[in-house]
Amino acid sequence: ADPCTHLLLFGATGDLAKRMLLPSLFGLDADGLLPDCLRIVATARSGHDRAGYVAFATAALEEFVEVERRNPADMARFLARLDYVPLDASTPEGFSKLTPAVGDPAHLAIFLSTAPSLFGPTIAGLSSAGLAGAGARLALEKPLGSDLASSRAINDAVAAAYPEDRTFRIDHYLGKETVQNLLALRFGNALFEPLWNARGIDHVQITIAETVGLESRGDYYEGMGALRDMVQNHMLQLLALVAMEPPARFDPTSVRDEKVKVLRSLRPIDRSNVEACSVRGQYVAGAVAGQPVKAYADELGRTSGTETFVALKAHVDNWRWQGVPFYLRTGKRLPARLSEIIVQFKPVPHSMFGNAELEANKLIISLQPDENVGLTMMAKAPGLDRQGLKLRSVPLDIGMDNAFADVRRRIAYERLLLDLIEGKQTLFVRRDEVEAQWTWIDAIRAGWAAAGTAPKPYASGNWGPPAAIALTERDGVSWHD
Ligand code: BG6
Repeated sequence: ADPCTHLLLFGATGDLAKRMLLPSLFGLDADGLLPDCLRIVATARSGHDRAGYVAFATAALEEFVEVERRNPADMARFLARLDYVPLDASTPEGFSKLTPAVGDPAHLAIFLSTAPSLFGPTIAGLSSAGLAGAGARLALEKPLGSDLASSRAINDAVAAAYPEDRTFRIDHYLGKETVQNLLALRFGNALFEPLWNARGIDHVQITIAETVGLESRGDYYEGMGALRDMVQNHMLQLLALVAMEPPARFDPTSVRDEKVKVLRSLRPIDRSNVEACSVRGQYVAGAVAGQPVKAYADELGRTSGTETFVALKAHVDNWRWQGVPFYLRTGKRLPARLSEIIVQFKPVPHSMFGNAELEANKLIISLQPDENVGLTMMAKAPGLDRQGLKLRSVPLDIGMDNAFADVRRRIAYERLLLDLIEGKQTLFVRRDEVEAQWTWIDAIRAGWAAAGTAPKPYASGNWGPPAAIALTERDGVSWHD
């Protein structure tokens, strides 16, 4: 695909634009990665003129780009790319104002960073202004629906205007370096693949823990909860990347074909097993990093049945993964901000070391806050060991920060925006993936509703309710510490 000449950004004065999109575009520009001719056409309801928007963008860069990266020439070049068109996207009227600003639709990328309630009207407005067919690309931010039916409705509205090969559904986890590194690790090394199956792997754990609470997102979060906010998208994408078969090529069709097979192979968690395979939690008052914090219900201002924590025991019912549990957990107000994937290998079949305790190898892929890939190995502890060898599990770490100290770490949106501009879809989620994700999630929610499963309280600063610990301990497994 040709790189585009215009990027049309809806929701251009929103939080995502300020924190992520403008800083990312600036970073790409400063590194000479944007096409020279690229114009960024910002649009939002607020009545800025161009100068007003440039001031907004300047303030955003000053807040969210490190001072040493803000050289004046780069700033000036980037700001000169910006245009602004005020527009109320909820009515189709004003869309014709965009046409002169965005150039040839064949070279246009459109980014919807707006509330999903505006997706339908925006797409209708874009179509009526002739900005739908003719090659334009459309990127959408989550939430893409709140269940399978609403996600289908959005996908249908999108499909009526933009074909799938020009639709870019964002899951920002796919833009994270370490997530892509998972592919490098699995498919760039001969070491792991022979063991990467039910014979070699005991179980997998995926944790995305956050210390933040509700923040200012009450309206959105209260309607979603942790299962739909985090598991439906980011965690299932991570699971799919861990579990998929080796794609033949790193291209959009090959990679996404393999991911969707995994998503469709997830064993349903429904009324029959929801109590054994899931734990819902909601934080109550406690302390995070030594600071006292309020209960979710107090932040919200009312009682609520929404979960802020979920732990699941999932299975991928296929040949490779039969019998291997995938334990997933995510939550707000947990003790640390940390995302990691733990692949726990099977123990050795026989120990020749007598009573020495052997720990099975673990591959630890840390996504954040630090990027690291580590493998635990048994090694002999130094000493004369007259009663038999003493062994200890020691880490073999690739500190990514040291291994690649000369390379600047980019935020996920830099990669995703560049891929959108260049028309590369591999790291965007295909319709069938999103729908398979929702199918699995809807069954869990229906199971909870039928079983009357209410969230269990957990004190902020704990790893969820005690039932989350019991979920793995029943299987003789501990969450990785
Ligand atoms: C978003 C969720 O998709 O991901 C948020 O809506 C969450 O609730 C965020 O805080 C986490 O992203 P990251 O990149 O900070 O792990």
